Amino acid sequence: MQTGPATLLSRSIEKIRSEFPGLVEGEVRLDGAAGTLVPSTVIDAVADALRLSMANLHGEFAASQHSTETIIAARRAIADLLGGNPDGVVLGPNMTTLTFHLAATLSADWEPGDEVVVTSLDHDANVRPWVLAAERAGATVRWAEFDPDTGELPTTAFDGLLSDRTRLVAVTAASNAIGTKPDVRAITDRAHAAGALTYVDGVHATSHGPIDVAALGADFYVCSTYKVFGPHAGALIADPARLEQLKPAKLAPSPNDVPDRFERGTPALELLAGVAAAVDWIAGLTDAVGTRRERILAALSATEQHLDTLLHAALDGLSAIPNVRLLGAPRHRTSTISFVVEGHHPSEIAGKLAQQHIAVWAGDNYAYELMRRFGLSDSGGAIRASIVLYNHRGDLDRLLEAVAEIARG
Ligand SMILES: Cc1ncc(COP(=O)(O)O)c(C=O)c1O
Repeated sequence: MQTGPATLLSRSIEKIRSEFPGLVEGEVRLDGAAGTLVPSTVIDAVADALRLSMANLHGEFAASQHSTETIIAARRAIADLLGGNPDGVVLGPNMTTLTFHLAATLSADWEPGDEVVVTSLDHDANVRPWVLAAERAGATVRWAEFDPDTGELPTTAFDGLLSDRTRLVAVTAASNAIGTKPDVRAITDRAHAAGALTYVDGVHATSHGPIDVAALGADFYVCSTYKVFGPHAGALIADPARLEQLKPAKLAPSPNDVPDRFERGTPALELLAGVAAAVDWIAGLTDAVGTRRERILAALSATEQHLDTLLHAALDGLSAIPNVRLLGAPRHRTSTISFVVEGHHPSEIAGKLAQQHIAVWAGDNYAYELMRRFGLSDSGGAIRASIVLYNHRGDLDRLLEAVAEIARG
């Protein structure tokens, strides 16, 4: 999503890098799509939460009230990050767990003859929970196929898939393998016209640019905070009124309010303290003034510009290396690139890069159906280099030089 003229980051990337203790001198970290490092303020917030006298939620005494405030602050932070109502934020351990939970809840009244639409562009965490739920309900799964030549998931991929039997359309806001950003709004509009709900996987998209759940038309939007400079947690956002209509499986004595009734067991409170700190850190990335939500939009818009510059340098550099083949060439994309080097197994390349202190992933990165469509499942998938905010031109130069040398050899 574009949000008017972009604001610049308030400080240099070098300064931003210095805020990440995990960015070790000499190491090139191009693995951010699998999880970003965290800035010191997040580490401090987690440590401070543990250092304070902690207690379980909803008690009368001060420590418990502080825990309750921690969870409320995390919900507010996620609502500001994604756009939406904190009362519709469900926190959980990660996106996969939340999605299995929602799939079980939403499919409770699916019947044989009902249909669910998933896509071959998606991470398996936004595919398998729906496929398994459909199997249990006797519902039919329909597949929207991306185009392996372009790497795009055109809205026309949904032609003929939607009908008044469609209960849900699950689609990613961005591919964690090849970065494709489908036109989510056009897809959700079509889903809504058919009377279906929409479940949008924002795990990959959220750190790459401004997000507005309402503008995307997502009935449910889910993300992982550990991909957005925060600790290991997951969050889902929906209209609280919609959550009110749902009856998740829960313990008899646990709260029955929304969103609490969707949260299972005792949350990782110290990590939730870190979630709010991560969102505050993002909000402080530019000199923009305004509400935290407005500052976040400015920050992610400035981030998007930085990533775009690096993305194009990386694409140009990789395409110029003989024997390197890029997977897809989507027009709208994040700064995540998958490629193969002809004649070399992806894990061999990742191993050689690791010896040079360059971190990339090799394999399918759980973009399981996508790798199958590319015909790469049996040959080790692809190499994935993902560029996030704290990457700089020097990281790309090291990657390009090393890949060129391996490809020559
Ligand atoms: C696009 C996408 N969706 C879902 C997931 C699963 O997220 P989690 O690890 O929070 O379950 C990932 C993780 O890599 C992802 O990249």
